[in-house]
Amino acid sequence: MYILGLTTLGDSAAALIKDGQLVAAAEEERFSRKKHHSGFPYQAIEYCLDHAGISLKDVEHVGHYWKPWILRHKAMQAARVAFVSPAMFKARADRGLAQVSESYLGMFKHPKRLRDRFGPSDFKFHYIEHHQSHAASAFFVSPFDRAAILTWDGTGEDTTTLFCRGAGNKIEVLKRIKLPHSLGQFYSAVTNYIGFDMFAGDEWKVMGLAAYGKPRFYDFFRKKVLTTNGNGDFKFNVQVLDHHLAKHYQFPEALTRELGPAREVGADLTEHHWDVACSAQKALEDTALYLVSEIQEMTGEENLCMAGGVAFNSVMNGRIFHETKFKRFFVQPAAGDAGCSVGSAYYVWNQILDKPRDFVMKHAYYGPGFSNEECQGALDSASLKYETLPDERLLPRLAQMIADGAVIGWFSGRMELGPRALGARSFLADPRRTDMRDILNHKVKLREWFRPLAPSMQEECGREVFGVEHNDPFMITVLSVADGYRDRIPAVVHVDGTARPQMVSRNANPRYWDLIEEFRKLTGIPMLLNTSFNVQEPIVCTPVDAIKTFERANFDALVLENNLVLHGV
Ligand SMILES: [Fe+2]
Repeated sequence: MYILGLTTLGDSAAALIKDGQLVAAAEEERFSRKKHHSGFPYQAIEYCLDHAGISLKDVEHVGHYWKPWILRHKAMQAARVAFVSPAMFKARADRGLAQVSESYLGMFKHPKRLRDRFGPSDFKFHYIEHHQSHAASAFFVSPFDRAAILTWDGTGEDTTTLFCRGAGNKIEVLKRIKLPHSLGQFYSAVTNYIGFDMFAGDEWKVMGLAAYGKPRFYDFFRKKVLTTNGNGDFKFNVQVLDHHLAKHYQFPEALTRELGPAREVGADLTEHHWDVACSAQKALEDTALYLVSEIQEMTGEENLCMAGGVAFNSVMNGRIFHETKFKRFFVQPAAGDAGCSVGSAYYVWNQILDKPRDFVMKHAYYGPGFSNEECQGALDSASLKYETLPDERLLPRLAQMIADGAVIGWFSGRMELGPRALGARSFLADPRRTDMRDILNHKVKLREWFRPLAPSMQEECGREVFGVEHNDPFMITVLSVADGYRDRIPAVVHVDGTARPQMVSRNANPRYWDLIEEFRKLTGIPMLLNTSFNVQEPIVCTPVDAIKTFERANFDALVLENNLVLHGV
């Protein structure tokens, strides 16, 4: 039985499961080449069907990650915007009705869209609540038979935070927190205040910047903006900080009196902004930890599954790992809305059809892959010279090049699902070099100096590097690096002595593990610096995408499966 899962607004994506096994999943942005592509994921669906060698008529169920008839919150939001910023309301009203109608009411047309494009089919279409899709995306593919499940994001239909318990093949909703109280919108608002763009997903930048600041404004955030009351809830005071107030609108006086005026786009980033980011990050962490202990007490469970955009906050996750009573936790690599495609499909399979669970997501490699011949065809078309080498020769040579200071574009196997490159579409470099972070951020990726870089390491070496056993294949947790190790890998250690590792399993990605092993043999360091293979665009998907990036960008060598291309040869 084939089930298709869909995310159709924001990070649009499609996922296909067959008899409960995940077969294929990818974000639409990788095909359209538009970051955070929003809209019906035609190309991702086409990829999923092609990969399985089926057509739409073979699909029996379609799970959709949103219930479009819950529009009440949209009306509430519009009323709020009209109240706090008439200018913004007017700007929105001009396109508002059309947008709501296309974006949300348009979801009713999805079954027809599918058949119009992919042919007749008798599938049953299921609209699933957004946060329950998130919860399914976390629990049903986790290694746990039982777990507490916490999902948190900007907002779903009207819920922003969902507390659930998962047991066997069922998820039970325990409690929900609704708009306007949203951790995701709190963080987006801070993102806007610091002059970044929440619509471009710049929340990452706030977390990166926070490591440099001091929590001077923590009390203000916790007393006036993000409060907890002892009842297991939190409140987000949108009178003081409202994520709808994008950068070109005024923030309320109650905020600017405390924090000063919002930063204009392009203005200098000063220590003041670092301190605001640091204070907001700490306020988020402490509120999150409060909710995590609440769900731990409610459920008494030892395992925690998380999803929703807030679950990407890897610094917060590190504190959950160290400071709460949960013994284990699981966040899958597409914890944001793209992963709801996977969650919707599993919600249908487990929750609705009552099928038993028989799948654990151990890796993220569910996107398109390409053979050596396909890679060579693309290189020939681009008139690039290359050598084709077996792994026994290629991997030691790459390890030596990296140890000598090269930055490699590594394209190997099926593309990752989720925003993190995990060794299928990655730039790789030497973590020992103090200058490597600047080289990658400035010369290769053309982005801000403070963006942290992370290591991919052999999972067997967790204790050696971090002093604790930890198995995180998805680069989702920030941990403190052991004292003796920090100086050895300066390019991947943050200013506060932490790092965000991907633990590479020899089973899940043997070729990547072998490459790291070659580097370890040369240097004694069981890791490589890994950052996503893209320059100001979505992560590369096809050999042609990789070649275009190679021709335009400033890195030393491109590896397309077993084919090695050097610059200037
Ligand atoms: Fe979400």
